[in-house]
Amino acid sequence: MNNKFILHNTIISVGDNSFSDLKEFLASSNPTKIFILVDQNTKKYCLPRILSLVSSLKSACVLELKGCAEHSGNIEVLKSMNMVNDICIKLLNYNIDRDSLIINLGGGVICDLGGFVASIIKRGVKFINIPTTLMAQVDAAIGGKVAVNLKNHKNQVGLFVDPVLIIVCPFFNRSISNFNFVCAFSEVLKYGLIYDLKFWKQIVYDHDLVFKNQIIDQASDLTELISKCIQIKIEIVNSDYYDIGHRRKLNFGHSIAHAFESYVLEHVDLDGSGNAVHHGLALSLGLVCETYISYRKFNFPKMILNDIALKIEQIFPPIDYDLIKFKKLVIGYLKSDKKNLNGQYQFSLIKEIGQPIVNCSVSESEIIDSIDYYINKMWK
Ligand SMILES: NC(=O)c1ccc[n+]([C@@H]2O[C@H](COP(=O)([O-])OP(=O)(O)OC[C@H]3O[C@@H](n4cnc5c(N)ncnc54)[C@H](O)[C@@H]3O)[C@@H](O)[C@H]2O)c1
Repeated sequence: MNNKFILHNTIISVGDNSFSDLKEFLASSNPTKIFILVDQNTKKYCLPRILSLVSSLKSACVLELKGCAEHSGNIEVLKSMNMVNDICIKLLNYNIDRDSLIINLGGGVICDLGGFVASIIKRGVKFINIPTTLMAQVDAAIGGKVAVNLKNHKNQVGLFVDPVLIIVCPFFNRSISNFNFVCAFSEVLKYGLIYDLKFWKQIVYDHDLVFKNQIIDQASDLTELISKCIQIKIEIVNSDYYDIGHRRKLNFGHSIAHAFESYVLEHVDLDGSGNAVHHGLALSLGLVCETYISYRKFNFPKMILNDIALKIEQIFPPIDYDLIKFKKLVIGYLKSDKKNLNGQYQFSLIKEIGQPIVNCSVSESEIIDSIDYYINKMWK
């Protein structure tokens, strides 16, 4: 099965046969040079498949980002200005020109980093995303946001820019680690919570996607699930590409998730070894906390809040960082949240499942209480 979507001028092709669209694009666009950005895992697990399916890529120049962790480890530390600098220098050494094409073959880190580099080198060259993790396929590769981290501050330097094509091949999920696969489900749950009660129920109750609290098999056909998420994201992004209003619905759970990621980068990764928390795991914390804040501000039903917390506890691995310390420091990290207005914390919350509300002013005590809720309910 193959599904196609369009977002702005970008064609998004979803399905294990989506490479035919890549072949067609390459034949019609004829770039002067093609660069494929990979990390050590996507070089090993994904590149061979692409080269065997798309023979015109055999002559492409493969740029491998070094220094990433073993099989499916966290490579968040690669998303830095230093790495942008390194890649740009390599591209210049290989004589990149304005008619060159960059293909980002990897998870959210490669898509964010490669998209950022492509949009600044030579004032911008065309790029294609081929997301290889569930997280990147349902979210990171779609929607035109690219960014890198500045020290421990998440996604603080970036821009809006569209790839010319996005090839989503669910097959790649077979080789990602189970941890990575499960963590990506937090973005899937988020789509249910902000957009669609039916989808939420289907994910958590129908034994359709989550069976006996086990996430569906990585090897099953994920085309429909991924397509549903992409369809929701496209609908929201189309209504507010530059993220000044409706698009902020997609940020539900993310204010606290990003604060937590920054906290881990600064306080746990002291030796710079890349011990960042997975974005999806941080989001599982953010979803519970921000549903709690929704309960405080909008009377979101307490029973449903507790049920969501229970489901999240059943699905995701436990968070083994010091949450008491995080609670003390969280406000400091929220100060750099891009949604803040006049020093006020602006969260995206939900009145009910499927009824998001953006730009909600939230007090420091509501934020701290939400982390207490998480600690008491789920953290042992
Ligand atoms: N731009 C956006 O809109 C957006 C949205 C959501 C998340 N993000 C970003 O995405 C990043 C997280 O992305 P992620 O979860 O994909 O993690 P990731 O990119 O760090 O990849 C996780 C690990 O999986 C490995 N890997 C990737 N594909 C593989 C495959 N098919 N087989 C085996 N190993 C594979 C990678 O080498 C890495 O070790 C974060 O930086 C987050 O901020 C961006």
